[in-house]
Amino acid sequence: MSTTVKEIFITDPEYGQVYELREELLRKPLGLSLENEDLSADRTDHILAAINDGKVTGCVMMQPREGSTIKLRQMAVATGWQNKGIGRLLVNAAEDLARSKNYTHIILHARDIAEGFYKKLGYKTTSDTFTEVGIPHVVMEKILNP
Ligand SMILES: CC(C)(COP(=O)(O)OP(=O)(O)OC[C@H]1O[C@@H](n2cnc3c(N)ncnc32)[C@H](O)[C@@H]1OP(=O)(O)O)[C@@H](O)C(=O)NCCC(=O)NCCS
Repeated sequence: MSTTVKEIFITDPEYGQVYELREELLRKPLGLSLENEDLSADRTDHILAAINDGKVTGCVMMQPREGSTIKLRQMAVATGWQNKGIGRLLVNAAEDLARSKNYTHIILHARDIAEGFYKKLGYKTTSDTFTEVGIPHVVMEKILNP
């Protein structure tokens, strides 16, 4: 299995597949749709796509916050491609991108079912559980080594 991770932009052909992946993995199961959301941040966020055989199999987005903090969001790996290391590759690539742009602190809102995944990648839980998109989440954070 050969996975490539690359930064894409909303004008790229892969953006449509990233949108579909987010819709299928992160919204439809909750009875929600991206169609009802303000997606203007997609223009300014960094979007990383994992590609296998020309097809988008995973994605993550990064949203600059105050100072040297960047928020990791919309992390998804396609059903059938999970547990093969693609999520880890995406987070590693996101951290490399963050470092290259002098961010030192990553923050994210983890669904409770994904907390163990981020913990494996060195993220620490820094909040109590709260509700977002109707399901339990926690804040997780990581200080990047230079
Ligand atoms: C959570 C998700 C992004 C993980 O991606 P993935 O490609 O399946 O993860 P990887 O194969 O890279 O796993 C890396 C490590 O984390 C572990 N892991 C993966 N998912 C996990 C989970 N939900 N809980 C605990 N550990 C997990 C793997 O076993 C692996 O451990 P190892 O290195 O000891 O073998 C993916 O399962 C997914 O898209 N889930 C549905 C959408 C979702 O919940 N997104 C997160 C929103 S916050």
